[in-house]
Order: sequence, then structure tokens, then C-alpha cells
Amino acid sequence: PSFAFVVPAAGVGARMQSDKPKQYIQLGDKTVLEHTINKLKATIPNALIIVAISENDAYFPDLTLPDNVITVLGGKERADSVLNALNYLTTNHLVDWVLVHDAARPLVLPSDIRTLISHCQSRHCGGILASKVRDTIKQGSEFVEATVPREALWQAQTPQMFLLNDLTAALTNALNENVVITDEASAIEWAGGKVQLVSSRADNIKLTTPDDIAIAEFLIAKQIL
Ligand code: C5P
Repeated sequence: PSFAFVVPAAGVGARMQSDKPKQYIQLGDKTVLEHTINKLKATIPNALIIVAISENDAYFPDLTLPDNVITVLGGKERADSVLNALNYLTTNHLVDWVLVHDAARPLVLPSDIRTLISHCQSRHCGGILASKVRDTIKQGSEFVEATVPREALWQAQTPQMFLLNDLTAALTNALNENVVITDEASAIEWAGGKVQLVSSRADNIKLTTPDDIAIAEFLIAKQIL
């Protein structure tokens, strides 16, 4: 079976309060998106990498990228961006499996991605990287209403790996029904599919707010692939 990576990179990243979208912020010697794509390339050197970018993206053309990268236009929400990439793959009959990975997660380790791939292939079942919740979790708005038992709680990360046909169908139907979709797995769950939880390093964080940048800079400098 063959795979492709899909990288949604068409967001504006408003919570980062930066002058440019967060995927183009510099982390040491490269931008966030360059680091992210290098990680995917290091995992499977010849896999196709489809990046969804927004229509008037002024930063993407300046990146230094491997030649197995293809771009498609992003959409209004993350799920629309992913679906555009999946439709491109379906039209071109290129692969069986897709691994969707956030542009804003440059810290992922190739070894964790390989573990995800082997779990999905050996069980022939989709899956996601995730880490167990560490903190005590409270529910409430102004005051605590409940402490949620955390034993069975996980933080969903990416990559999220599914059969191309399963994910395309689930996302298409979920968007048509206006289901709120914040990751690929939630569309599969909504469609009644199974999703394996594959334990990953907790530092595979999604860069979201300005203080994440300093942490990411520190961690990426220490990583040896
Ligand atoms: O905003 P958030 O952090 O959830 O975005 C996750 C990923 O989805 C980012 O890499 C972002 O660029 C991407 N995205 C996208 N198209 C959108 C919104 C977000 O590709 N319309």
C-alpha cells in the first residue's frame, strides 16, 4: 500500500498575534513549515507531500522544499483544506493511505510517525498520534462544576492516518451535515469508524500562542533525527 502526506497550511493563526501566519515564523534556521515538511520527508523520503495553502499566500514561494511537494488551494476551514487535498489525490488515483499532519507541528518525530504507520497497516485500521492527559482536568466556566477522571483522556495530535477513501467520504458527509470537525478522526468517529490511539511524545505540540515559539525553538535545536 502507498501513502501520501497532507499538510493543511492555509490558516491565518490569529491566536499567534504574529505579522505572518504561524507556519511561516522562523524557528532557528528554517520556517515552521520547512521543519514540518523535513520531518515528513525524513519519515518516508519518496512519499508525496500535498500542502494546502491559501489563495494569496505570499510566503510559500520563498521556502526551500524537496521536489516531492505539491500544493493545492486551502479552504475556509481546516477540514475544507484537507478535503481539497484528498480530492486531488482521489482524482489522480495516487495512494491508498493518507497521513494528515498540521503545518504547525514541526516537533513531531519520524519514529513516532513510523509507529503510527505500522499500527495502521498491521491492523488495517486508521489511527492518530496522541498523548495521555497529564494535568487534572476541570469542567466549568466561572467555578468548577466537576473534575473529569483523566485515566481515559488523551490529547489528539497529528499525523492522523486513514484510508483515503474512508477519510474522503467521512469528511465530505460531515461537512454536508454541518458537523463540527476539528480533526480528521472526529469525522471518522462521526461516521462510525474505528480510530486507534497511538501513544506519542507529549512535546509534539501545535504552535498556537506566542510562548509556544520559544519552547519549539529550544526543542528543535535539541532534536537529532
Ligand atoms: O488553527 P489551527 O491551529 O487549528 O490550524 C491547524 C492547521 O490547519 C494549521 O496548520 C493551519 O494552517 C491549517 N488550516 C488550514 N485551513 C484553514 C484553517 C487552518 O489549512 N482554513
